[in-house]
Amino acid sequence: MSNIFTSSIGKKLMMALLGIFLVLFLLVHLGVNLLILMDSRQAFNVAAHFMAHNIVIKVFEIFLFGGFILHIFYGLILQVKNWLSRPIGYNKTNNSQTSFFSKFMIHTAVIIFIFLTIHMIDFYFKSKFTNAVEIVNYNGKEYHDLAALVLQKFKMPAFVIGYILSFVFMSFHLLHGFQSAFQTLGINHKVYTPIIKKIGIICTLIITVGFTIIPLYVYFFK
Ligand code: HEM
Repeated sequence: MSNIFTSSIGKKLMMALLGIFLVLFLLVHLGVNLLILMDSRQAFNVAAHFMAHNIVIKVFEIFLFGGFILHIFYGLILQVKNWLSRPIGYNKTNNSQTSFFSKFMIHTAVIIFIFLTIHMIDFYFKSKFTNAVEIVNYNGKEYHDLAALVLQKFKMPAFVIGYILSFVFMSFHLLHGFQSAFQTLGINHKVYTPIIKKIGIICTLIITVGFTIIPLYVYFFK
């Protein structure tokens, strides 16, 4: 039986749709995280609380984690198939069509996966399953002081460097992934394709520069 979950093109389509969904998540996550740059920690803590407790966002979170896992799962299957079907010596010839970043998708994916695992342990699991994050009180309501945790982490040089390097590798992944996703969806057009490529570059720049500013600002100015 060949359908969207099992056929090769089906897996590519799923990868593309999940990838676009994850880019949208990154833009929202960045928007919330930029609040950490404000003088008071309250705005970030209240926004993070809303993101963690709102019922619509909780449902979205299930899709988000499912999306990450499926994107990784399909990516691995497609990559292994690619390796197995590649004739010996192929990579030395005729790859002029392949963009520089497309050759490193699996490598940048592994780096993002390692980053995400550490990131989840440091922030998400800590706030959800331990008492390690302090509680603050605003207008009689309790909130996790996640802002304090982020500020504490980004005072450590190793953390700042590790995060920024991860964002750079993530930008390589996004640069190719974004336009490749739309190609997989069948959008290959004289006018639209260059526009999609430009939007991909702009989104990647916003995400990479936006996320990079946060550890740098906290380390030097907070
Ligand atoms: C400066 C950069 C970043 C900061 C300060 C940051 C901060 C946080 C914090 C505090 C949480 C916990 C929220 C909670 O438990 O309520 C979180 C969760 C999460 N982060 Fe990040 N993050 C950053 C970058 C990233 C990047 C680049 C990715 C993806 C590649 C990412 C993916 C996630 C995911 C999947 C979650 C769990 C879902 C959620 O709570 O929304 N984060 N992040």
